[in-house]
Amino acid sequence: MGLINREQILDWLYCDDEARLEELWQRADEVRRDKVGDEVHLRGLVEIGNYCRRQCGYCGINASNKDVERYRVDAETIIECAYQAHGYGYGTVVMQSGEDPGIKAEWLADVIRRIKQETPLAVTLSLGEREDEALAMWREAGADRYLLRFETSNPVLFAAIHPSIDGKPYTPADRFSLLKKVKDLGYEAGSGVMIGIPGQSYQSLADDILLFGEMDLDMIGVGPYIVHPDTPMGRGIGPRPLPGGEQVPGDELMAYKVVALTRLTCPEANIPSTTALASLNYESGRELGLKRGANVVMPNLTPPKYRYLYEIYPAKACIQESTDNFHSKLTGRIEGIGRSVGKGQGCRQHLG
Ligand code: 5AD
Repeated sequence: MGLINREQILDWLYCDDEARLEELWQRADEVRRDKVGDEVHLRGLVEIGNYCRRQCGYCGINASNKDVERYRVDAETIIECAYQAHGYGYGTVVMQSGEDPGIKAEWLADVIRRIKQETPLAVTLSLGEREDEALAMWREAGADRYLLRFETSNPVLFAAIHPSIDGKPYTPADRFSLLKKVKDLGYEAGSGVMIGIPGQSYQSLADDILLFGEMDLDMIGVGPYIVHPDTPMGRGIGPRPLPGGEQVPGDELMAYKVVALTRLTCPEANIPSTTALASLNYESGRELGLKRGANVVMPNLTPPKYRYLYEIYPAKACIQESTDNFHSKLTGRIEGIGRSVGKGQGCRQHLG
């Protein structure tokens, strides 16, 4: 039930007229208010490990980066983080990691069960492409949501930034099939893309935004692509920017446009104002995301000694601030823009 068509999406993606863009921000904000209300849901993010078997050309923790010290957070520490999330009044804990077979399905199922037994939190997982049995076991243990961005729906661009690790062609279809699987298992499903990947055209970004709506995703996270120097793409290996004004810029304005347009293709979805957005504008990126369609913030609860090791891109906004300090300012920042902190788990509402 999208509120916008492909032609209109493209028109906005190309628009650089700040005065005219006010109309887009307003529309996205109205739809956000109408469909998901003024509450901003907070999800505590715990980056539970940075081992990864993938070789994504853009990502700082990809398997071939030998300069990263690898870690896995122990179960007790993760559970303490969940208690901290609850203590702050957040409704959800998100466990994210690289795609790491060393995170054993049974072990994580125990952690999930404990969190679900001991707290009222919703549990979100963001662990890459894991086996069907693991996904089923975690759902059984009580996990509520699963996040996996498809990054781009363009199969050629996808392949160019995601080398195959098993000799089989790797395409967005693999990620779509996981998303379908988690939905069938009863998870809420979340996905998203990076904005401004070299080689990403306006047409293909418009396709991505339309696809969010067609897939009826419960959550959509988008953010600018940020170059990481210790990655293949950071060293110039990978797709080239498109010539002749066809390349989507990975700048702040484009990121807000994609957030706003996503609200129009997915009126009911939970949409975070992402850390990558805040990394481009530390002062007001998060607020501007919230005013232009977003309704979720994901404060980082990863213990400080691990946080700087989860460097998927450089200068992540959350590295600069302690959890306590961020948290103590957050309510004020949310109320400062006329919104309130969400109560409860902040599940996706189906409005019919
Ligand atoms: N710039 C921006 N976002 C990135 N991600 C990974 N690497 C980068 C980068 N260099 C995003 C991907 C991934 C999510 C966890 O982080 O979209 O799905």
